[in-house]
Amino acid sequence: MTRHFLTLLDLTSDELRSLIRRAHELKRGRQRGEINESLRHKVLGMIFEKSSTRTRVSFEAGMTQLGGAAMFLSPNDTQLGRGEPVEDTARVLSRMVDGIMIRTFAHETVETFAEYSTVPVINGLTDLVHPCQLLADMQTYFEHRGDIQGRTVAWIGDGNNMCHSYINAARRFDFRLRIACPEGYDPDPAILDPATDRCEIVRDPMAAAEGVDLVVTDVWASMGQEEEQKQREAAFAGYQVTPELMARADEKALFMHCLPAHRGEEVAAEVIDAPDSVVWDEAENRLHAQKALLEFLLR
Ligand code: CP
Ligand code: NVA
Repeated sequence: MTRHFLTLLDLTSDELRSLIRRAHELKRGRQRGEINESLRHKVLGMIFEKSSTRTRVSFEAGMTQLGGAAMFLSPNDTQLGRGEPVEDTARVLSRMVDGIMIRTFAHETVETFAEYSTVPVINGLTDLVHPCQLLADMQTYFEHRGDIQGRTVAWIGDGNNMCHSYINAARRFDFRLRIACPEGYDPDPAILDPATDRCEIVRDPMAAAEGVDLVVTDVWASMGQEEEQKQREAAFAGYQVTPELMARADEKALFMHCLPAHRGEEVAAEVIDAPDSVVWDEAENRLHAQKALLEFLLR
């Protein structure tokens, strides 16, 4: 049966954990200059209906490093943009390539794509979730602080796709999650409700950060919400990750952000640009974690 990676819940806890271990191994191998062509001659198709820096470059570099190739497909230049059905595109592409990564708006699009694809489909971000980012975040936590099981994480800001993936990660990696979001910006109950044994909404960001091991945030207006920017800035005032908020967390707490970041909005420059900030490791780990994922799905 073809496996897909549309959300973190598509993999078991054991699979996710061994994937993180493999990602770390691949990272060490690359640092030692080792060549690993485990995906020699394999091809990944990448459909981007939204902008991307990290996701595109990490998948493309990762496929090349593993001896394969990746192909960037924009809706502007393919028939998808002219209305060819997703179902037809999935059937055609999966006869030519070994895996397909999609970044799009509606989560249903990746579900439909996977239904009609005979090769693995990877979700490179939808309005609902961003599972690839969580692989990198979990790898980063493991590398800096060890196992995240039993730890407490504070999510500060919008109950968005990244927040949803943190909720799924809390289930799979067994940590507690406090979500500090203003009313009206709560995570989707369909994602939160099955996770209430580990996740709770705490409106006050300072209270949410108390004693936690990891503080995470993301932009206030995600891709596709640009016209809500002003309204969101007002709603999220008081939800910035500041040095004062970080001081409430455990003294060894890490700060993460999937990037791109808006300094002075969701995070203060002093926090993200601190000398020991792990956000750059977090971004780098997109490469290693996705290489491990590609090996898992495409081999
Ligand atoms: N974090 C992340 O997915 O970045 P890009 O939008 O640049 O891919
Ligand atoms: N929540 C953000 C994440 C970007 C990587 C967005 O969807 O735009």
